[in-house]
Amino acid sequence: MAEIRIRNSNDRISGEQNVKAFLDKQEVLYEHWDATKLPQELQEKFILSDEEKAQILSTFDSEINDLAGRRGYKTWDLIALSDATPNLDELLKKFEQVHTHTEDEVRAITAGKGIFIIKGTDDVGYFDVELEAGDVISVPEHKAHFFTLMDNRQIVAVRLFIETEGWIAHPYADSSFQKS
Ligand SMILES: [Fe+2]
Repeated sequence: MAEIRIRNSNDRISGEQNVKAFLDKQEVLYEHWDATKLPQELQEKFILSDEEKAQILSTFDSEINDLAGRRGYKTWDLIALSDATPNLDELLKKFEQVHTHTEDEVRAITAGKGIFIIKGTDDVGYFDVELEAGDVISVPEHKAHFFTLMDNRQIVAVRLFIETEGWIAHPYADSSFQKS
């Protein structure tokens, strides 16, 4: 289950209902899929063949179509990142810049872990959402954020898009950004 850390206070929020209530207030969608639907070997595999990627997408076909139907996503794909990814460090450096998009950023984690850093309402400031397998998140359009990996540096996630152009990152300069 996802966990929240508020950067200002270092307070943590855990438990599905608490996390959901906090994220609701921040207008961040949070849902959960059953990641154990995946065959055991795919729950811990981060270098995937095209066949394995297709197998993961078909395992979650009903969840993907349900989410897409409710929220208007038209295309989706699967990304896998790990130390085996060429130029992972360079890629992460690029990821770790606060930015916005013109459409929401949706990720459904099917294996591994990841973290979204999001600029919350003024009373909250920046907060981290630590995600694990089964967690589904949508950061609204125009909401400043970035994504990175956690210490294990391994993730597999479904990404859903309305239009691929909406995914372009617009840098968000913010003197109040809290680095940790
Ligand atoms: Fe983004």
